[in-house]
Amino acid sequence: MNRVADKVVIVTGAALGLGRASAMMLAREGAKVVLTDIRDAEGEAAALSIREVGGEALYLHHDVSSEPQWQQVMAETLGRFGRLDVLVNNAGVADGCPPEEETLEHWRRLMSVNLEGVFLGTKHAIRTMKARTPPGGAIINLSSIAGMIGIPDLGAYCTSKGGVRLYTKSVALYCAKAGLNIRVNSIHPGYIWTPMVENYLAQHGDVEEGRGAADALHPLGHIGEPDDIAYGVVYLASDESKFMTGAGLVIDGGYTIQ
Ligand SMILES: NC(=O)c1ccc[n+]([C@@H]2O[C@H](COP(=O)([O-])OP(=O)(O)OC[C@H]3O[C@@H](n4cnc5c(N)ncnc54)[C@H](O)[C@@H]3O)[C@@H](O)[C@H]2O)c1
Repeated sequence: MNRVADKVVIVTGAALGLGRASAMMLAREGAKVVLTDIRDAEGEAAALSIREVGGEALYLHHDVSSEPQWQQVMAETLGRFGRLDVLVNNAGVADGCPPEEETLEHWRRLMSVNLEGVFLGTKHAIRTMKARTPPGGAIINLSSIAGMIGIPDLGAYCTSKGGVRLYTKSVALYCAKAGLNIRVNSIHPGYIWTPMVENYLAQHGDVEEGRGAADALHPLGHIGEPDDIAYGVVYLASDESKFMTGAGLVIDGGYTIQ
């Protein structure tokens, strides 16, 4: 309990999946949570379920690819809670395509969420975190095992997640050398059972068969559950990780050690 007591945290893409699980666990550990997403009904419901058990949570409509909407989210977070301690850049989209079939339009749309969304959030979080006295904070970027290794047909997704991995390291160095007291780390999940994975499997055949095949890709014998990643988010958000920056926290059931 209280591992992130009173920290003010923004979680993007918090209506479903890993963002929702992370927001819930952060709230249980004492954080004040701003949940943002484009799926308003599910986002409001997630924030409500935190408030119903005595936590503090606010939902905001927010497309991470829009810079004006990032400015609005920062202003509303400061207006409601007075500070920002942690940003979890979680919102992301995944769909595959063979490279020779890929379109520029689809490629750019995916980048605008997965890569530009992380850039915009990081930019405005740093501005907010460095303006306070003393400056400080933590930024957590959801990359993927697909940011470390290649996966067929996921060229745009792998590229975006590889970009998030190296952007994290660059910004971590910048913040450390500028003395901003802002730590920046990425998380690299293996396959985790969320709507993203379920929808992807549904588009490519039978979901149960696909889940079995995905289980077999992980040396631990099964895919992960959202809380497996939420535990990592809470760790990187908390002061327990105060000596960690620019790192990639791999939580993948052993997928990438083979
Ligand atoms: N589930 C996995 O196996 C897995 C593995 C590795 C990495 N990841 C990454 O973790 C993050 C969360 O994945 P998930 O599995 O929970 O996905 P999900 O599809 O289940 O949930 C993603 C959430 O992001 C929101 N979102 C999508 N586009 C948005 C936008 N433009 N602005 C704001 N919100 C938007 C969706 O509405 C949804 O609520 C993603 O960045 C994903 O790439 C997931």
